This record gives sequence, C-alpha cells and structure tokens, in this order.
Amino acid sequence: MPIVVDQYQRPLHDLRLSVTDRCNFRCVYCMPKEVYGSRFHFLPKHDLLTFDELTRAVWLFAQLGVKKIRITGGEPLLRRDLDVLIHQISEVEGIEEIAMTTNGSGLDTQRAKTLQQAGLRRVTVSLDALTDKIFKAINDVGVPVSRILSAIDAAIAAGLHPIKVNMVLKRDVNDQQIIPMARHFRHTGVTLRFIEYMDVGNTNGWRMDDVVPASEILATLQQEWALEPVAPTHPGEVARRYRYQDGGGEIGIIASVTQPFCQACSRIRVSPEGQIYTCLFCSKGFDLRRLLREDSLGDEQVMQALKSLWAARDDQYSLNRSKATGSGPKVEMSHIGG
Ligand code: GTP
Ligand code: 5AD
Ligand code: SF4
Ligand code: SF4
Repeated sequence: MPIVVDQYQRPLHDLRLSVTDRCNFRCVYCMPKEVYGSRFHFLPKHDLLTFDELTRAVWLFAQLGVKKIRITGGEPLLRRDLDVLIHQISEVEGIEEIAMTTNGSGLDTQRAKTLQQAGLRRVTVSLDALTDKIFKAINDVGVPVSRILSAIDAAIAAGLHPIKVNMVLKRDVNDQQIIPMARHFRHTGVTLRFIEYMDVGNTNGWRMDDVVPASEILATLQQEWALEPVAPTHPGEVARRYRYQDGGGEIGIIASVTQPFCQACSRIRVSPEGQIYTCLFCSKGFDLRRLLREDSLGDEQVMQALKSLWAARDDQYSLNRSKATGSGPKVEMSHIGG
C-alpha cells in the first residue's frame, strides 16, 4: 500500500531535485538570450537549499514513498561539490536510485568517475543534433557536438548506464536530424529519446505548429527501420519504448503534448530555492524552505505538511492542455529542470 496517494490515486515515487537555476547554455527553446542575458538575476547562494537541507528533504520524501531521485537544474554540474551532495543522498535509507539529467558540457572521464563513486547510478545527456551548425544554433553558446559525444563516452566508461540521450524536436529546426541521430546511436547501447517540444514556462514562445508529433517521429523512423513496441519498465514511465527488430537497440518517444501521461504521474519537483511543484506546469510552488528553516518544526510536522500537499494534488496539466487551461504564468523549465 502506498503511504500517500493524491486525488487520482497516484502514489509518490520520484523526486526531481533542481540544484541550480544557472546554465552555461542558452538553448533557444529554454533560456533565450533576450531573457537570460547579463542582466538576468539568478538566485544568490543564500537562497539555495544547502546540501544538509536537501538531504533532509530527501529523507522526508523517502518516508512518503520516494525511491528515485533525479538531479536536474539549470545545469546540475554547475553546482559546486555535486558529488558531495550525491554521496549524502545515497546514504538515505529507502533511496534506490540516483540519476542526473545534464547538458554534458561539463562531464569528462574524471568527473563521471567521481560522481559514480559518490553514488550516481545513471545519466541522461541532452543532445538535439549531430551537426555543429544546428547544435550551435540551438545551444547558442557555440558548444560543438564533439564535446557532448565525449561526455556520453565518459559516462559509459564510468559505468553510468543505461545512458539515455534526450533530443527535443522543434519543427524546421532539427526535425531533419531524426534519422542521423537514430543511426548514430544504433548499436551503441545508448537509448535515444525523441521529445515533443512542450509549452513549459513563459519565455520560449511555444506554438503547437513547432511540435513534431510522436506519430510523425515514429513514421519517419519506420521508413528506415522496423520497430516494435516494448513494455514500460515501470508505471508512469514518460517514454514509450520501441526496439529495432534487427537488434540495433532501443529508442523512446516522450509525447507529453499528443499522448499525455498524467494518469500515472508520480513525480514531485523541488526548485533550487526549495519551492515544491506538484506538476511541471504549476504557476506557484509550496514553500518547503520556510518549513525546513523553521526551528520549531520537527521532522514529523514537516512530513505531515508534505503528506497533505500530495494528498490534495489534482494536477494533470498535459491531459487538460487542450481544454484551454489558460496562458497564466508557469514555472520556467530551466528553473525546475523538466
Ligand atoms: P527516466 O524515466 O528515469 O529516464 O527519466 P525521465 O525521462 O523522467 O527524465 P528526463 O529528465 O530525461 O526527462 C525527459 C523529458 O521528459 C523532459 O523533456 C522532461 O521535461 C519530460 N518529463 C519528465 N517528467 C515529466 C512529467 O512529469 N511531465 C511532463 N509533461 N514531462 C515530463
Ligand atoms: N520541451 C520538452 N523538453 C524540454 N527540455 C527543455 N525544454 C523543453 C521543452 N520545452 C528538455 C531538455 C532536457 C530535459 C530535462 O528537458 O532538453 O533534456
Ligand atoms: Fe539547454 Fe538544458 Fe540549459 Fe535549458 S537547462 S538552456 S535545455 S542545457
Ligand atoms: Fe505529471 Fe503535470 Fe507532467 Fe501531467 S503535466 S505528467 S501531472 S508533471
């Protein structure tokens, strides 16, 4: 029996911790330079949850059923001494897996090894194209593809597998890269995941016309290779899995726009300054930091507050998207980490 379920009987299983709001990339669909320029105010250090606060939060969530932690950002590798945090979290009873989603630019063999030794189990690397021209136009800071491919190799060498690669597809920007990317990662053991571009945040100017739907992604791949569906590894998995029939490995398609997966969503998110978001598309968080910094509140009281928060949860933004859920302010992707 789950310890707590929300309004739609969904248990709490995954915690996504965004450890910094900073990133060294300026992906045009996430941190456009016009908004995230030199005058943008990132969080000052004293606003961030400390490692001890983060570890306490993980312990509290573990009491409510969380088993899996995903470290995100911004770019998580920009958080100083990240391996120390990972080590602390890995010691929390009940935590079975720690994974990280990164842009890969700061991941070399040594760093990957240090993180693995600290307790990191898996890494997902974002890479949106295989040609420098397209990739640089997306990351907008001139980072070449080779640097990210080296990061993937470093993660493999450190045993951080199965490695996944996230490719966000945007119409007329990188949809021509579907086949080259698939061809590159076939037979490597790396799972490439194609992601429908989502209407997260308020700054990326999202339009439905920019979305390359899952059906089209699959049809494009099937023109080249025979694919068959694979059963999900766990309930609430975001990606639909497919296998190349010739033994070339697996791919995934994350279709949050055209095939929403809210029914089994067991994810909770904490922002770098300790706001809890019960959905990626929330406009407002719940102030966990205030509770953690309130000396008069013990673990039991904070845990009860978290339990009530989850029990009251009725989010299912992606399912309702089509019903004009409004264009009100939403938390930014680079702040909450996807
Ligand atoms: P694993 O299942 O452990 O591989 O992780 P993941 O796929 O949940 O994490 P990742 O950070 O790689 O996210 C992949 C894509 O799915 C990103 O575009 C995320 O923003 C998106 N995503 C992850 N969780 C959710 C969710 O709960 N809702 C929506 N709408 N999108 C999500
Ligand atoms: N839609 C879908 N995925 C996105 N990501 C960033 N912005 C979006 C968006 N608008 C991806 C990143 C990263 C993951 C956490 O989310 O590329 O791989
Ligand atoms: Fe790009 Fe990820 Fe950085 Fe956003 S957080 S700008 S998607 S690398
Ligand atoms: Fe979960 Fe919200 Fe994503 Fe639906 S839109 S899967 S409720 S985070």
